Amino acid sequence: MAKLNLAVLISGSGSNLQALIDACEELNFPAQIRVVISNRPDAFGLERAQKAGIPSFCVDHKNYDEREEFEAVLQTTLEPYPVDLICLAGFMRILTAGFIEKWPNKIINTHPSLLPKFGGEGMYGEHVHRAVLEANEKESGCSIHYVIPEVDRGSVILQKTVPVEAGDTIETLSTRVIAQEHIAYVDAVRIIAQQQT
Ligand code: GRF
Repeated sequence: MAKLNLAVLISGSGSNLQALIDACEELNFPAQIRVVISNRPDAFGLERAQKAGIPSFCVDHKNYDEREEFEAVLQTTLEPYPVDLICLAGFMRILTAGFIEKWPNKIINTHPSLLPKFGGEGMYGEHVHRAVLEANEKESGCSIHYVIPEVDRGSVILQKTVPVEAGDTIETLSTRVIAQEHIAYVDAVRIIAQQQT
């Protein structure tokens, strides 16, 4: 059975990438990672990709004045690989509508809240967990969603919920959420792969 071909875009630690690498090492997992691209040269995720023998590249956004220039190089880097789905995994750049329309319904992202709550411009990383704590939410979680030009507004593929505990800090909450992201991302890729075969 043909496997879904993934490109994974990262900016940092790459723990979500690692979850996908580990899943793809299971023979019957219906996807394989063809290429990993980081916009930051110091992303530890690049080491994870190299260790797993996956072609990896850095396209440093700081080398380009315009977002469109950066995205043109991103596109050129992707082109030699058979990519069915682009997985944004801790990727911290906003993609323009121009790039997204080249990949209709083929870009997914993980967001560390129960979208549509606590999503949108400027809501990333610890800003999300701080807002959840300040709003006194009783639960939070993560959302794997399709990427459209409106930030964090694409249709949600699946969510995992975690309790917000008394005394939680940004640190304790983010640790609980990211553990669920790792599970959710693998599940979402499996769902998409099974829909496409
Ligand atoms: C994750 O919490 C993700 O939701 C956010 O970036 C964080 C880091 O992810 N976008 P990773 O460890 O680099 O995969």
